[in-house]
Amino acid sequence: MRTVADDPFRAPKGVHDVLPPDSARWSELVGAFARRAERAGYGLVVTPIFEHLEVFERVGVTTDVVKKEMYELEDKGGRRLALRPEGTAPVVRAFVEHRPPVPWKVWYLAPNFRYERPQKGRYRQHWQLGVEALGPDDPDLDVEVIALAEGFYRDVGVDASLVLNSMGDDQSRPAYIHALRAYLLEHADALGGEFRSRVEENPLRVLDTKVAEWQEVIERAPQLTESLSDQAREHFERVQHGLDVLGIDYTLAPRLVRGFDYYTSTTFEFVTAKLEAAQNALGGGGRYDRMAEEMGGPPTPGIGFGIGIERLLLALEAGDQAGPVRDRLDVFVVDTLGGDDGLRLLHQLREEGLRADRTAVGRSMKAQWKAADRSGATFGVLLAPDEVSREVAGVKALAGEETQVEVPLLDVAGWIKERLERDR
Ligand code: HAM
Repeated sequence: MRTVADDPFRAPKGVHDVLPPDSARWSELVGAFARRAERAGYGLVVTPIFEHLEVFERVGVTTDVVKKEMYELEDKGGRRLALRPEGTAPVVRAFVEHRPPVPWKVWYLAPNFRYERPQKGRYRQHWQLGVEALGPDDPDLDVEVIALAEGFYRDVGVDASLVLNSMGDDQSRPAYIHALRAYLLEHADALGGEFRSRVEENPLRVLDTKVAEWQEVIERAPQLTESLSDQAREHFERVQHGLDVLGIDYTLAPRLVRGFDYYTSTTFEFVTAKLEAAQNALGGGGRYDRMAEEMGGPPTPGIGFGIGIERLLLALEAGDQAGPVRDRLDVFVVDTLGGDDGLRLLHQLREEGLRADRTAVGRSMKAQWKAADRSGATFGVLLAPDEVSREVAGVKALAGEETQVEVPLLDVAGWIKERLERDR
């Protein structure tokens, strides 16, 4: 027997479709993000969905995303490719390839693919809104990038708390990793083989694991921020100062390591209390000052973040925030004639910038008014023989008790626009 799970004509496990009316909230979120980013001087960047495998190996060969979750493929020409698991490496690859002048500030909307165990807020394809800024290693740029994310969450009405850390620089990190590994290995006998192999591979990866039995040891582990070089400490302090100047609240999170190997210096996440701990990150990012160089480009520091759209929607729902949705039609045309007048009027309304629609021609007037109500449109416009012979249309607000008024056919669009403006 064929089950739902192996029905080929259903979306594969862990991915889903977004249909109207839910997609209206998507377009609002994307629009709000684009406006914020463009106001701060970021231009849209679009990179391919797949890249050479090596691009993502830069993301970190010790990370789950690369080691276990990547969708790898070989094309018919024998090339080893991977579907993008995250957005930063492709943008840096594009930077290295095209060498645009710095500062290079870009924003994106892109799907990412990770072979995860699907659950609420964790999918095999998810979408991110993000920015990357390459060029300056100025802490003010860190502040700008963080402020952009913070402002966006405010725009869309999501409560997101900022947690902040520094991964240090090339001076501070190796000594810290050495000390951390030594400390963790002291506890490896008690905590088992899996713990030991993770520590040996990359002790930083242990810090952000959620395994309950390991937490006591992790809590007492040395902290990177205690052993920052002078330069790294100064950078981190200036980022905090900038956030203070802008009145952006944050909590220091010395154990925040994030899931990729490329981070240097500032790292941050925005978390919500509305979702379970395993999926509570609404977005995150940080500096990756070595990635361009590692891909063969000129040494070019960079910083950015990615915000998961699906989680943002879950947080909006959980907070009972309807969100900034505007998916209602402005006007619905009820046309009992089915002739040129209806065709012309609908076209005119749309040309005037109104959201307008009608049902298939030929249905009864009653059915058409029902469809008008169901559509949620603000106004209904009636084209019936009597009205049209006098070159007028009957216009009425669909909600409330207002009576229908007659408006000259040529003035319908202007009349509705004026009313919408007045009621706003
Ligand atoms: P990330 O933390 O892996 O960072 O992902 C960013 C956000 O995408 C997460 O905070 C979460 O909201 C969402 N997300 C991640 N995985 C999933 C999933 N499986 N299902 C649903 N949502 C998910 C990055 O990807 C970095 N490229 C961010 C960055 C940009 N760092 C510097 N620049």
